Amino acid sequence: MLPDQVSASPRTWIIQALSGWHGRAYKWRRACTLVLTCIAFTAAAAELPSRAAIASAHPLATEAGYRVLEQGGNAFDAAVTIAAVLAVVEPYSAGLGGGGFWLLHRAVDRKQVMVDAREMAPAGIALSQYVDEQGVPVPNATLRGGKAAGIPGVPAGMVHLAQRYGKLKLRVLLAPAIALARDGFNIDSRFANVARVRQALLRDGINTARIFLDNGNPPAQGYLLRQPELAATLEALAEHGRDGFYRGAVGQSLVSAVNAAGGVWRAADLTNYKIIERPPVRFSYRGATIVSAALPSSGGITLAQTLNILEDYRIADARDPASAHVVIEALRRGFQDRLRYLGDTDFVVVPIGRLVDKKYAHSRAASINPDFATPFDTLMGSPLAAAKPESYNTTHYSVIDADGNRVGATLSINAWFGGGVVAGNTGVLLNNEIDDFSLGPNLPNIYRLLGSKANEMAPHKRPLSSMSPTFVEDDKGVLVIGAPGGSRIISMVLFGILDYLSQTKVDLLKILTAPRYHHQCWPDVVEIEPDSFSDSWRASLEAKGHTLKPANRKWGNMQAAFKSKTGEAQAASDPRGFDMGGY
Ligand code: GLY
Repeated sequence: MLPDQVSASPRTWIIQALSGWHGRAYKWRRACTLVLTCIAFTAAAAELPSRAAIASAHPLATEAGYRVLEQGGNAFDAAVTIAAVLAVVEPYSAGLGGGGFWLLHRAVDRKQVMVDAREMAPAGIALSQYVDEQGVPVPNATLRGGKAAGIPGVPAGMVHLAQRYGKLKLRVLLAPAIALARDGFNIDSRFANVARVRQALLRDGINTARIFLDNGNPPAQGYLLRQPELAATLEALAEHGRDGFYRGAVGQSLVSAVNAAGGVWRAADLTNYKIIERPPVRFSYRGATIVSAALPSSGGITLAQTLNILEDYRIADARDPASAHVVIEALRRGFQDRLRYLGDTDFVVVPIGRLVDKKYAHSRAASINPDFATPFDTLMGSPLAAAKPESYNTTHYSVIDADGNRVGATLSINAWFGGGVVAGNTGVLLNNEIDDFSLGPNLPNIYRLLGSKANEMAPHKRPLSSMSPTFVEDDKGVLVIGAPGGSRIISMVLFGILDYLSQTKVDLLKILTAPRYHHQCWPDVVEIEPDSFSDSWRASLEAKGHTLKPANRKWGNMQAAFKSKTGEAQAASDPRGFDMGGY
């Protein structure tokens, strides 16, 4: 008999399938746990490997990952399959046209590494393509069309994972995604909602209407989406490895399509794309070891800085008002350094050692006024102009296998449906990750993130990211956690870490459902999830000078897997994901 928790994600899938409406699945599950657990557990227990756990943003991806484990694959194999399936069933978040980071732990030798598959800027990139002579951004240049796309890293990353860490053949690992792309799948409510929200982009985009719309309209839930061209590209990748994507017919098609859409790609940009294995950021927090993403993701460093500051305080519950004040101030300081110092270390010198030093954190902690918020202009100088509207995207999954191998992966094409370009007949939807570069000191990006010269664009450089796949190792076991959501990823993962460490008995769903707030230094507001914080909570923070801004909707689609010291595994998905969370 398998441990009950092993079946957490497939059980979720079965319940979703039975309920037919993801938005209700979570409440329904709680109400009907006993009955459904029996049905689902019986189905799942017969086929699942024990002591493994997978959580992803889509039940078909989770299911495919479990099948790979059953076939004798390890967590790294499963990670390849999950990435490929998500590229088909959640194409608006991540895919072959995007990039991301895989954080790995190999049980046999305890090797921990971050596979950096972040997009690279093409050789021909120049700031003058994105701002006019006065330095004013050209509308949408970083967000739409060919100029918005960086050279994709996900296909190279999948090949790298399979060849260096996996046990099964790439062809086997990609087979489920190929079948789903070729034969189709019924879109869920989340897909239908995202397509509705982004219908203008899909109508005006290149090849997007014919692939993702139903006769020019957003497809309804249940619509059978077939992507035969994407299936053929996946086949090419399965057959020829990297060359199947970065060279030959697919590579040529990518270059011509991007350039026809205003971009400046060359064939060599694709062939020179480099996967880089980087040591992750590793630090301690109150006895636990945290392992997270290294630059060009800001995630690990900003988490380390924020948690180092919090070590100087008693934080029993990050949501009690006194602690929330300190957490907000710590985030403010962490994000301040993000915007001042962080960028791709292959191009700029980042004082990483100093930033994550506990002594530096003490001085930062000492600058926190326990009774009052530190205003942005006190911290940074003069206030800034208005920001562009916000949008959220990306996907995360967490895998732990029976041997204790782990993968935390956060992958993205940036804003939903990226830059609205599907390259020729490849079925590959391209990213708009160039928007993650800084266009100038006072020019926020889509996430209203500011940056400095450290994150200015340059040929072959990787834009600064917030994607933060993270391991938390403590006396209880190991947690693999991450989320989509741009800059909010960092505060979400911070809460995930704090909430996990506050539990004596792990309750993943409690961690994932807890209310969220967010601060990123600028704009100088604390975003809060709607209907989540009491009037007295809000009054208490406002009395300390914080400006609170309820968001339009809850955010995040966090995915967590946990394995206890005794080897029992469990997984959980953020219920917000079923309800259009993350938007
Ligand atoms: N594109 C979102 C991020 O990398 O943070």
